[in-house]
Amino acid sequence: MDKKISDFKKRESVRKDYDLIAEQYGKDFGTYIEDLDIYEEFEKHLLDHAKILDLGAGTGRTYAYFHAKGYQYIGLDFSEKMKNNAYQIHGEFPYILDDMINIKKYFANDSLDAVFAVYSLFHLPNDDLKKLFSDVYDILKPNGIFLFTYQVGKGEEMADEPYLKEQGKNVLYMNYQSDESIKKLLNMVSFKELFRKQKIETSSTAINANEIATVFLLARKIK
Ligand SMILES: C[S@@+](CC[C@H](N)C(=O)[O-])C[C@H]1O[C@@H](n2cnc3c(N)ncnc32)[C@H](O)[C@@H]1O
Repeated sequence: MDKKISDFKKRESVRKDYDLIAEQYGKDFGTYIEDLDIYEEFEKHLLDHAKILDLGAGTGRTYAYFHAKGYQYIGLDFSEKMKNNAYQIHGEFPYILDDMINIKKYFANDSLDAVFAVYSLFHLPNDDLKKLFSDVYDILKPNGIFLFTYQVGKGEEMADEPYLKEQGKNVLYMNYQSDESIKKLLNMVSFKELFRKQKIETSSTAINANEIATVFLLARKIK
């Protein structure tokens, strides 16, 4: 199968899976915040009222956090059910319903102070992730910042997803990265790493509880 079509199908499967689990996700995590130390690290580099684009905004839990702090927050997600759920929980707020690989349709070059993407980029096939890093670089202002997570590992798999079990299926497309592959993406454009934190979260109340390490990485656009 043509690579572009098979990558599209992987993303489509993710979109449909989040439509299935949106309600439960919203109930469990709609207003939940963890990793505050990392958010604070991110905010050290932000001016008041900075414009933040959240890629894979889900049911809006990070909207609530950033909005309360006075930042100009824009969410983006391709699952209509996640968006509807976010609006039910938080009321309406700027939220683009589209695939994140299309961000350049919405944002001019050098237009954003920050891009934030936690627990979402691990659903992108490698070619899409590469394009995304390049697009994020373009739309950030010089010295703009990018905070994202990746899960440490190698290759892609259909991974167990307990939320989906109730819907009659239980696997979700995941793509893991090594520190080296992420370094390559950062160097492909000129992102400079500012901060990283690795964690393994097994608490059953956490967002991404499993045995796989998650890395939070903060980078700055250097021009
Ligand atoms: C695990 S949830 C995380 C949501 C939110 N970032 C949070 O921390 O609560 C992953 C989200 O990424 C979204 N997502 C995954 N791939 C996407 C893509 N290619 N374009 C837009 N959204 C995507 C999913 O629809 C889902 O809402």
